[in-house]
Amino acid sequence: MNAPIRVAVTGAAGQIGYSLLFRIASGAMFGPDQPVILQLIEAPIEKALAALGGVAMELDDCAFPLLKGIVQTSDPAVGFKDANWCLLVGAKPRGPGMERADLLKDNGKIFIAQGQVIDAVAAADARVAVVGNPANTNCMIAASQAKRLPPERFTAMVRLDQNRAQTQLAKKAGADLTEVKDIFIYGNHSPTMFPAFAHATIGGKPAKAVINDDAWLQGPFCETVGKRGAAIIAARGASSAASAANALVDHVRSLVTPGAIHSVAVKSNGHYGFDANVWAGMPVRTTTPGSYEVITSYAMDDFAKSKIAATNKELLEERAFVADMLPKA
Ligand code: NAD
Ligand code: LMR
Repeated sequence: MNAPIRVAVTGAAGQIGYSLLFRIASGAMFGPDQPVILQLIEAPIEKALAALGGVAMELDDCAFPLLKGIVQTSDPAVGFKDANWCLLVGAKPRGPGMERADLLKDNGKIFIAQGQVIDAVAAADARVAVVGNPANTNCMIAASQAKRLPPERFTAMVRLDQNRAQTQLAKKAGADLTEVKDIFIYGNHSPTMFPAFAHATIGGKPAKAVINDDAWLQGPFCETVGKRGAAIIAARGASSAASAANALVDHVRSLVTPGAIHSVAVKSNGHYGFDANVWAGMPVRTTTPGSYEVITSYAMDDFAKSKIAATNKELLEERAFVADMLPKA
């Protein structure tokens, strides 16, 4: 058995938290040989902290063999102390009729403070995964506060979009989900995101040839994946939670599994024509646990280039909108 790792989770008493914590404690995120200490962080609100106490009781009642400790706090300096992984879920979700970017002014400021505290107190090997929306830009805000931890340690989640795209392709082709490979998400976690279908395969053949319907791929497929979050809010009256928690398990599990190839929003450094300073979804290959390299070899046709330009434009607009939350150069 390995020594326990410390996993800090913000918004731990929220909807996503309620699906997520039990998966982490059961070993789904870090594997069956990796004990964890959960450091649960909630807003300093009486009701939220009381609910967190209840979640902690339920975690105790599961008697998870891998769960070696639970910290409950509203103080980020306590919650992020020595954390190896910081999962930033805590933020306001959008309601019907809102876009994720509408949350920026409220949620963005959470990530200024959290970026600073993580940089000051988290473990030397700390990794950060941002889920709270708008996830790409919040991740950029948190990373911009860090002086000790390099920007590549900060990732944002587009794995839910990848999972959604995989299922849509499988359904359209009438294929088993596991037959769909190499579908990756580029850009923002918003309706402008681009699920790059031209590189996907189904049963080892190009998805474009199997589906044989470019109009569907360019239209309804991209739109369904891009607007899936809004469709769930409309149907459920609340934003996706269990599938988001599942996607975060996948995001981190892939990032700790050398050789895994998966979609992650990372600092673009100019890859695929994205502005160098935005966090954009793109395919990465995990190298060593927690580290990755961007796969830069996928060629983009004119349609893909126009989609990437549109999602890059939106990321730049979000960046301009939060300019006052970024350190002055
Ligand atoms: P929720 O409202 O159920 O829970 C959020 C929790 O965060 C609440 O308990 C709240 O008290 C807490 N919180 C707020 N500010 C905090 C702070 N400063 N520190 C610690 N905790 C804080 O919301 P949810 O459904 O769990 O969603 C959380 C976020 O995740 C939302 O922004 C939502 O839009 C986003 N989300 C992202 C994806 C994605 O794919 N990236 C998917 C689904 C949801
Ligand atoms: C999602 O994609 O389901 C989440 O980002 C929630 C939302 O606001 O769409």
